[in-house]
Amino acid sequence: MSETSLTLTRPDDWHIHFRDGEVMRAVVPETAAVYGRAIVMPNLVPPVTRADQAAAYRDRILAALPDGSSFQPLMTAYLTETTDPDNLAAGHAAGILTAVKLYPAGATTNSDAGVRDIRKVDAVLTRMAEIGMPLLVHGEVTDPEIDIFDREAVFIERILKPLMDRQPDLKIVLEHITTRQAAEFVPEGGANLAATITPHHLEINRTDLFRGGIRPHLYCLPIAKREEHRLAVRAAAVGTCNRFFLGTDSAPHPVHAKESACGCAGIYNVASALSVYASVFEAEGVLDRLEAFASLNGPRFYGLPVNADTVTLTKSGVNIADGLTAGTETIRPYHAGETLDWTLSD
Ligand code: DOR
Ligand code: ZN
Repeated sequence: MSETSLTLTRPDDWHIHFRDGEVMRAVVPETAAVYGRAIVMPNLVPPVTRADQAAAYRDRILAALPDGSSFQPLMTAYLTETTDPDNLAAGHAAGILTAVKLYPAGATTNSDAGVRDIRKVDAVLTRMAEIGMPLLVHGEVTDPEIDIFDREAVFIERILKPLMDRQPDLKIVLEHITTRQAAEFVPEGGANLAATITPHHLEINRTDLFRGGIRPHLYCLPIAKREEHRLAVRAAAVGTCNRFFLGTDSAPHPVHAKESACGCAGIYNVASALSVYASVFEAEGVLDRLEAFASLNGPRFYGLPVNADTVTLTKSGVNIADGLTAGTETIRPYHAGETLDWTLSD
């Protein structure tokens, strides 16, 4: 018998981009309506590199919440080759910083201040391992010789495995995985390695980026891969390894910046994400495992309690808006204008 209603512990989003200013004020309420907490990415311009900047950014996010919301933004610091380990440790101890984000310099949007030589951050990583502060990794090499579709798999071999050998006690989240190599490596990588999975990487492959013409709103980084990779990532999400969890990588950009001669990477998926995840678990016949992926595995890995309340999803249809207005800008949601199956009921 197919389910039409599902109640689960309130989920968290372990990877999101809120941006700042008007865009932040437009997108924060959408996330806060669904998730208990979210890990907030620090790739603002300029990036959020220090604890005091993260505290100020957190205050701006909290000010954008609707009255009565108990949503908690969990802040991250952007790792640079000059990051001060004492600043991170103090921010972590004060409850301001939850984790640190590694962007290889040049890998993606606003990553120029990121890390060029991973060995230059050894001391910071050692300190993070000591205090139990997770490292969140954008896992793509930036070597221009490496084909864009191979950058994640090569990152695992060239950067991640040696890093894990040097820092066996460091908790690492490989963010937004897109490949069979990542899906297979995480379960065998030990208790300190986890991965987030986006809704779009469960649904689209690289052919979808060009279906009937170029589809700028499906362009994100890491880019969608071949179908065999999508299937492997999907199997990981719905499987039994409890170190895979929900991270939307929702990354809003104005429509004009996506529909451009050089369109930028990022998919704004907040309104559709939970519905997509539910449909994927349903299609795989394991709707009962959605709660682990969405609500339990993340807190377990981060050493946080699970949310105390629940949400109920019903299979009654949800219309995804054509656009979200943020000041003078419009942001096009993932699945814009479509009706999806699962919706959050009040
Ligand atoms: O597609 C992406 N967009 N990937 C990232 O890693 C960054 C993000 C953004 O900030 O727009
Ligand atoms: Zn991201």
